[in-house]
Amino acid sequence: MVKDPKGRTEPGYSRHVFICGHERPPDASRPCCSARDSIAVMKRLKVAAKEEGISGVRVQKSGCLDFCENGISCVVYPEAVWYSIKNPDEDIPAILEHLRTGVPAESCRMKLED
Ligand code: FES
Repeated sequence: MVKDPKGRTEPGYSRHVFICGHERPPDASRPCCSARDSIAVMKRLKVAAKEEGISGVRVQKSGCLDFCENGISCVVYPEAVWYSIKNPDEDIPAILEHLRTGVPAESCRMKLED
């Protein structure tokens, strides 16, 4: 039987987290998540999920999610909940709670009027 590196026999995750890692030049007309240190935030979330034993979750970098002005942009599937990570020290624990319980965090939900 074929297995992946984690010993699973079927592909897929119970939750998938994408954090935008897109980078633009400083003089671009739109901001970018990379300039807000999104890659470091993505790594922090990934390590924290692993350290807390939250299984079945994949945290990874995405390209531009097109909500650049609201970044750092983050989306969690299958709930399709969008987050705007503006204060990682508060938002990462809130998103971890979502990953642990399946209940979306309200404190950092992306609001388009922000
Ligand atoms: S640069 Fe991150 S959403 Fe566009």
